[in-house]
This record gives sequence, C-alpha cells and structure tokens, in this order.
Amino acid sequence: MSKNVLILSASPRKGGNSDLLCDQFMRGAAEAGNKAEKIFVRDKKIAYCTGCGTCFGTKKCSIKDDMTNVLDKMVAADVIVMAIPVYFYTMNGQLKTLIDRTCARYTDISDKDFYFIVAAADPDIQAMERTLEGFRGFTSCLEGPTEKGIIYGTGAWNIGEIKGSKAMEQAYEMGKAV
Ligand SMILES: Cc1cc2nc3c(=O)[nH]c(=O)nc-3n(C[C@H](O)[C@H](O)[C@H](O)COP(=O)(O)O)c2cc1C
Repeated sequence: MSKNVLILSASPRKGGNSDLLCDQFMRGAAEAGNKAEKIFVRDKKIAYCTGCGTCFGTKKCSIKDDMTNVLDKMVAADVIVMAIPVYFYTMNGQLKTLIDRTCARYTDISDKDFYFIVAAADPDIQAMERTLEGFRGFTSCLEGPTEKGIIYGTGAWNIGEIKGSKAMEQAYEMGKAV
C-alpha cells in the first residue's frame, strides 16, 4: 500500500549531511511507490511557541505562519521522518521550534511511523543516544507512534562529507522499505 511520507529536514545547510540523507530516504520511498515530500524547515516561517495557551481549548494557534500548513501535513502523513544536525548533543533549534509549535494539534498526530536521521561530527553512535531521547520526548506525547528506524550520519563534520558513506545507502534502503 502506498504511504504518505513527510520528511522534515531541519538542517540550516541545504545539501548538508542530514539533508542529503533525507534526499536518499525520499528517493527510496518514492521509487517504492510512496508519496514522499520533503520540507526544508529553514525555508519556512515558523515562530517560537509563546506558551499563550490559546490552543489548549481551541486547537488553534494564535500565531499565523507556515506552521499551520506543516501541521496539516504532519497530521495527514503515515510516515514522519525527522532529520537534524546534532548541535551540542541535542536536536538543533529549527526542529525544536517546529516541535514546540505542534502544541495546537499534537493530539491529532496519531498512529504514525517515525524515522530519525541524525548528522554529527562525532563518529560514536552511542553518543547520539541523548539526542535521540529528545525525539522520543516528543513522540512519547503522541498516540500510537512507532519508532521504525534511525539513520546515523555520524563522523561527518563538513557539508556533504556524508556522501559515499554507509548511512547514505541505509537511508535509501530504509526509504524503500517504509
Ligand atoms: C553549533 C554546532 C554545534 C555542534 N555540536 C555538535 C555536537 O555536539 N556533536 C557532534 O558530533 N557534532 C556537532 N556539530 C557538528 C554537526 O553536527 C555536523 O557538522 C553535522 O554534519 C551537521 O549536519 P548538517 O550538515 O546536516 O547540517 C555541531 C555543529 C554546530 C554548527
């Protein structure tokens, strides 16, 4: 069955290591007959959550920006891929800002399959665990999430350095198998 795959690429570097892994994942997913879309988060206007509480009863955010559309896509997706550069052993600000802004409708992001993509200079996969826990902090607030896979784009510092790595192949194969 064809799935609706949404890829949130949160690196500020277009063509950065995590973004390249997203492209591989997307290529695999599309080749397998799925509908795959990548959102390059930096291209979107997404303000910080202000914690105003408007959404608590209304499910509507008081801020009118691109997040409304991103949230619609997250709710509609079967598969959500979250990709980040690791900054100080946690997710970078772009993705955290996006996650915080799901507040109005996170209860509608139900029964999704999740894949996580991390890019980091550190080659040690174990060192990524606390970053992954950040993703899980979000998914643990959702109904029926399934963590389906992780791609470790580790040992890559400079832009594009991930090219030719095993992670590139894994991202393609994981995308193909969604
Ligand atoms: C502000 C900043 C903080 C970083 N912190 C870490 C870190 O804690 N651990 C690490 O392994 N790499 C760290 N890096 C390196 C990036 O994770 C690495 O360059 C990665 O490939 C960037 O992914 P991207 O190309 O998708 O943007 C940091 C880079 C920047 C700019």
